[in-house]
Amino acid sequence: MAELTLDLRDVDKAQAYDELHQHVFAVLDGVDDDIAAMATISALVHHAFGHLWTGFYRVVEPGRLLRVGPYQGTLGCLDIAIGRGVCGTAAAERRTVVVEDVHAFPGHITCDARSASEIVVPVFGRDGELLAVLDVDSAEPAAFDDRDREGLERIVGWFAGRG
Ligand code: SME
Repeated sequence: MAELTLDLRDVDKAQAYDELHQHVFAVLDGVDDDIAAMATISALVHHAFGHLWTGFYRVVEPGRLLRVGPYQGTLGCLDIAIGRGVCGTAAAERRTVVVEDVHAFPGHITCDARSASEIVVPVFGRDGELLAVLDVDSAEPAAFDDRDREGLERIVGWFAGRG
């Protein structure tokens, strides 16, 4: 089971996140490596839902700069200033940002013109420090809601709770 990549596109979202959460934690059991975890989570979340882009921007200069980490999808931009775009806003405000229409978000950074909506979730470490953000982009407008926020926050909770 742990070796499978789940396809949850036809499953009710709340149930899909329950399954995905269990699956991610099972695959990462005994792992203590942030990059391995980011790569694993990117792959599992991306293919579970068929998103456009799924991946991490890591804090490389606290309070100032995010840099791309493991992801799935087309080429992502490399560096994002904290405070800029959706990722930089989520990092600066340490909260999940859901954007129904990226074209209406001031300062949105376009990496793939097909992107229509997105969700960015902050990733905290054991001591509450901001490690990264998880950015998920969709070609569908308004693809994300509170169930995605809860589900993804629970999954990236791995980084604070592991070990
Ligand atoms: N959408 C992001 C930029 C990163 S990419 O889409 C991969 C943003 O505005 O923060």
